[in-house]
Amino acid sequence: MILDVTAGRRCMWKDREDPNVIFIDQKRSVKPTIIAVWAYLPIRSGAIDGAVKDPPHMLYVSKGKPMAFNFAERYGILNRETWEKDLAAGFEELMRVMAPGAQLLYKWNDNHITLPRLLACLPCKPDRKAAMVGSRGVRRPGSTEPRSRTWYLIWIKKTA
Ligand SMILES: C[S@@+](CC[C@H](N)C(=O)[O-])C[C@H]1O[C@@H](n2cnc3c(N)ncnc32)[C@H](O)[C@@H]1O
Repeated sequence: MILDVTAGRRCMWKDREDPNVIFIDQKRSVKPTIIAVWAYLPIRSGAIDGAVKDPPHMLYVSKGKPMAFNFAERYGILNRETWEKDLAAGFEELMRVMAPGAQLLYKWNDNHITLPRLLACLPCKPDRKAAMVGSRGVRRPGSTEPRSRTWYLIWIKKTA
């Protein structure tokens, strides 16, 4: 079985009703297969062959930015006090349910929290990573650096 632990509207999936995928979300309104929080998955240890995680990445909503407000409504917002502990607990729980050799694809936008800050709160480094720079207005004025990147990180659960 494959697990999407922050399924939301299932946009990452071509087949949003794929019977091989368990769609989990804490929000009842998105009609997940199972309503649960990522820190306590009602799944047996080692039962998952592959997993996807696309957690909220915003820490706040900028005032006067309706787009950001819509994003927060739809994608959720991290707790400013506890996000490190929350993401770490979710990661540990995913590793518990994943079978040895299973891969975790983790999507992360670094607009509010940089990749090094994210990785510092997780117990191990990813086995692979790739970045995609957004196409809409992503540069700070006068800078050639992108303001944010979306990262695709892969962890492979160790066999022992
Ligand atoms: C960035 S969105 C995911 C978007 C999703 N990939 C889609 O295609 O719509 C993050 C999702 O994680 C869910 N979420 C936030 N905190 C959670 C938690 N502790 N446990 C489970 N789901 C959570 C939110 O309800 C939201 O649907």
